[in-house]
Amino acid sequence: MSTQTSLLPQVSQALALCALCLATIFIPKFLQWRTRMQKLNAIPTVGHSGFFLSYISARKFKTHAREIILEGYSKAFKVALPDQWEVIVSGREMIEDIRKASDLDLSFIEAVRETMQSDYTLGKPARVDAYHIDVVRTPLTRNLGAKFDELRDEIKASFADEIPAKEMEWIKVPMLYTVMKIIARTSNRYFVGLPLCRDPDYIKLSIEFTVDAVTGARALQHYPGIFKPIVRQFLTNVPNCLKRATGHLELLIRERLEKEKEYGSSDWPGKPNDLISWLLDEAQGHERRKDIVYNIVSRVLLVNFSAIHTTSVTCTNALFYLAANPHLVQPLREEVESIVAELGWTKAAMGKMHKLDSFLKETQRLSGVGGVTMVRKVLRDFTFSNGTVVPAGAIMSVASVGMHHDNTLYEDPEEMKAFRFSNMRSKEGEGLKHQMVGIDPTFTLFGGGGRHMCPGRFFAVSELKALIGEVLFAYDIKFENGEMPAPEWQGVNFSPNRFAQVMFKRRIPGPAQVRADRGSL
Ligand code: HEM
Ligand SMILES: *[C@@H]1O[C@H](CO)[C@@H](O)[C@H](O)[C@H]1NC(C)=O
Ligand SMILES: *[C@@H]1O[C@H](CO)[C@@H](O)[C@H](O)[C@H]1NC(C)=O
Repeated sequence: MSTQTSLLPQVSQALALCALCLATIFIPKFLQWRTRMQKLNAIPTVGHSGFFLSYISARKFKTHAREIILEGYSKAFKVALPDQWEVIVSGREMIEDIRKASDLDLSFIEAVRETMQSDYTLGKPARVDAYHIDVVRTPLTRNLGAKFDELRDEIKASFADEIPAKEMEWIKVPMLYTVMKIIARTSNRYFVGLPLCRDPDYIKLSIEFTVDAVTGARALQHYPGIFKPIVRQFLTNVPNCLKRATGHLELLIRERLEKEKEYGSSDWPGKPNDLISWLLDEAQGHERRKDIVYNIVSRVLLVNFSAIHTTSVTCTNALFYLAANPHLVQPLREEVESIVAELGWTKAAMGKMHKLDSFLKETQRLSGVGGVTMVRKVLRDFTFSNGTVVPAGAIMSVASVGMHHDNTLYEDPEEMKAFRFSNMRSKEGEGLKHQMVGIDPTFTLFGGGGRHMCPGRFFAVSELKALIGEVLFAYDIKFENGEMPAPEWQGVNFSPNRFAQVMFKRRIPGPAQVRADRGSL
């Protein structure tokens, strides 16, 4: 009895202490949340904004993002995501503000960390020290001229394997998956070379990792932080992919580290000119050399990841438009054949293909890879030059789909005018603006300029031209019923119809093709 009475004050003291602790943690959090909500409330909502109704809106955004973005387009608006708000803005001025913003205010990496759950899918080292971006921007892009022959060789070989069409009969090809295999192979020929780029397990892995990381991210988003490592381990395929990738790459990496040691220099004779070497060159210094195999493998996966999915979606979009618009084949084919006859399959030749460039840009204006671009996490309250304030904690993005379909920016925006941009180019002179890789405030496939604008776009566009060029060169294509299949939207991500098939027939080589082919590989 006596023990109980003497314990009571202690218990109540402990309880009081707990309450105090909780209050010091939660009251500031609550106040912070309330000020943020007040700032957010100043931004109009598309969909519902009440606590429960916003949850319904979040579910709707998963399936109707395109309609919702188009509805809100031209003003700054917010939409409910399952666990937070996304503020979507538009207009040249606001894009300019985002472009100029500091990473400490608007963070690209933190947005990727959230939307892609990148610490658990793509690996944490790549977020903390993103030197692979410099590798994409400089050596990977700079070697396009020198390594174009390899790219072209792999394109020829992979088309021959994956689309073995005959001259006499049409065959049906499941387009998106086939394109993914071809692009995984050609990109990896450029990244890691032969024989790995043709290794079936490695190619399967490249595609699977891309898909697994995306589905893994979707699964992970629904769990709070402490459960994520477990979810990653048991509910996603990411650890398995990493293990397999390490199996393929570890020996290659170790051999090169040995050579460096042997020659006492990172510049040893016979060093391959590929992504692994470029990454190792960039990974100098004690910090960057820690856990080097995992570091290089996860970055190779990451570059793959940034490259394969986006390029496959854009390539499939373009092939769908080509199959549905047979009248475009002749002008595009004439351009490719005459330029290749003169310059061969080279980077310089790709640069001269203005019509093909315009066709690619126009197809991505209409379809693209998603409804928004320039996704950022707001780290500190951000004030746009017109006074709109977006509070810290929100996700922010630019309504690219609205812009790409805006009739004040584009004449007949719903119409596919393949040569829209090449016509502007010939009218307004050789400006960079109308090229697919150019910084054009009305076209935001690769972002809206600034530090984070896709550094892989020069590689991507050259590769795309070589891929579509090969189709124009070697095949006739069509849809069985002539019609463009309906696309699929998952949240803000656009995908061409995954099940659609395109019919292919091998072309009987014309004299122009024979001439052009002789002039190259
Ligand atoms: C058609 C294909 C592609 C599309 C549509 C695309 C699109 C984008 C977009 C929208 C961004 C973010 C820009 C921003 O938020 O400001 C980005 C960033 C990036 N892309 Fe691409 N991309 C493509 C191909 C590639 C390729 C082939 C590579 C690598 C070889 C690549 C590597 C990267 C990297 C490393 C970043 C991050 C840049 C940074 O954080 O500063 N991309 N891309
Ligand atoms: C700033 O511009 C956006 C987009 O045009 C608009 O929705 C918003 O109301 C403007 N903000 C202010 C404070 O005027
Ligand atoms: C591509 O991805 C696969 C798996 O996703 C990975 O193993 C490989 O290292 C990547 N290839 C390169 C070098 O890009």
